[in-house]
Amino acid sequence: MLSKVTYKQLPTHNGSRTKPCHRKTKGVCVIFLVIFVLGVGLHRAGFTHSFLGTRKCASYSLSTTGGLPTHYTLPSGDKIPSVALGLWKAGKNQVGNAVQAAVESGYQHLDGAWIYGNEAEVGAALKRTNIPREDIWLTSKLWNSFHDPEDVESALDASLSRLGTDYLDLYLIHWPLALNRDGSVYNQALTDDPYPTWKKLEELVDKGKIRNIGVSNFNIRRIQNLTANPLKYPPAVNQVEINFWFPQAELLAWSKEYGLLLEAYSPLGGDGRVGETLSVPVVKEIAAELGITPAQVINSWHVQRGTVVLPKSVTPCRVEENLHITKLPDELFEKLETAAISHEPKRGVNPSKSWGIDFDIFD
Ligand SMILES: NC(=O)c1ccc[n+]([C@@H]2O[C@H](COP(=O)([O-])OP(=O)(O)OC[C@H]3O[C@@H](n4cnc5c(N)ncnc54)[C@H](OP(=O)(O)O)[C@@H]3O)[C@@H](O)[C@H]2O)c1
Ligand SMILES: *[C@@H]1O[C@H](CO)[C@@H](O)[C@H](O)[C@H]1NC(C)=O
Repeated sequence: MLSKVTYKQLPTHNGSRTKPCHRKTKGVCVIFLVIFVLGVGLHRAGFTHSFLGTRKCASYSLSTTGGLPTHYTLPSGDKIPSVALGLWKAGKNQVGNAVQAAVESGYQHLDGAWIYGNEAEVGAALKRTNIPREDIWLTSKLWNSFHDPEDVESALDASLSRLGTDYLDLYLIHWPLALNRDGSVYNQALTDDPYPTWKKLEELVDKGKIRNIGVSNFNIRRIQNLTANPLKYPPAVNQVEINFWFPQAELLAWSKEYGLLLEAYSPLGGDGRVGETLSVPVVKEIAAELGITPAQVINSWHVQRGTVVLPKSVTPCRVEENLHITKLPDELFEKLETAAISHEPKRGVNPSKSWGIDFDIFD
């Protein structure tokens, strides 16, 4: 059974956020307004970035998620937005601005984690934007050293308080690896059998602190092992690496058949490979043909394959660029799909060695 999708337009810009002019100061206000509009115009055209010599911003003419699902429906009935801002490596004094830029361009979904170490700044930024809590989808992840059922709730509470909220829309087991409480390697029982951790998460759903629970970096064997238990709530998603270099065609086909939604992490290839991804000839060709950017081609491809896409950027104009996707004509979609699955798959993220475990976490 496939997750049902809905075809609703994402909100575009919701207009000016400046305060209305007071009568007495109308003239001054008009002058400031002109300067403001000019400034915003130049900024959005990428002028400030290229002028300041930081990052170049692309120009394109997309404003909606033309023809692609804006949401997927989870087993709970909740609708998860198909595009999220990724928050890994979104650094101090950057992540807040990125979140603000995201909310202002219409994002309704943030993908964070306790281990990213930036939840307090994310929470503060959300507070500044005044976005109603129910208008934003917040995901966080349970870190490896908190899998012991006795540690799960306090780990969740830490994320909740930093984010400044009393519930998460989605909480994931970040990795199938359970570390010991002191961070040392490793708790074999809870790694081989995550059911006790899962049962605790189900309890926290019933307590109202989490709306949906899921997993991340789980292979088929691990999902089958977890779901062989009498689960009260099945996993809502599996968040895994998916990009042009590691397209995960087999896991994607299996997950669709099984009815488990995938979320594509490192969708642009990740930090080290994004440049390479965006200069793949077929990606550039499609971008030129459709008048969109290479990043938009890639983000569109992900959602067209039926996954949530989680591009990360702390560059405001890229944040906005990444929200705008469009259905690729079938022929171009197939061309890109074929290119992605025609080379040796190469993972970008595998911390097994750095954790010092003597097996591959993906085996
Ligand atoms: N569950 C897990 O274990 C796991 C693991 C990895 C990632 N994730 C999630 O997935 C998210 C994304 O993955 P990721 O950060 O590894 O990689 P990514 O989103 O594929 O790539 C991020 C890189 O691409 C650049 N970029 C973003 N948009 C761009 C654009 N439109 N044009 C040019 N460059 C652009 C960013 O630069 P700037 O920021 O400098 O603009 C950054 O260097 C993470 O933030 C996290 O939420 C989860
Ligand atoms: C999951 O795998 C572990 C380790 O092999 C095993 O002990 C456990 O019984 C499995 N769970 C189910 C429900 O099959």
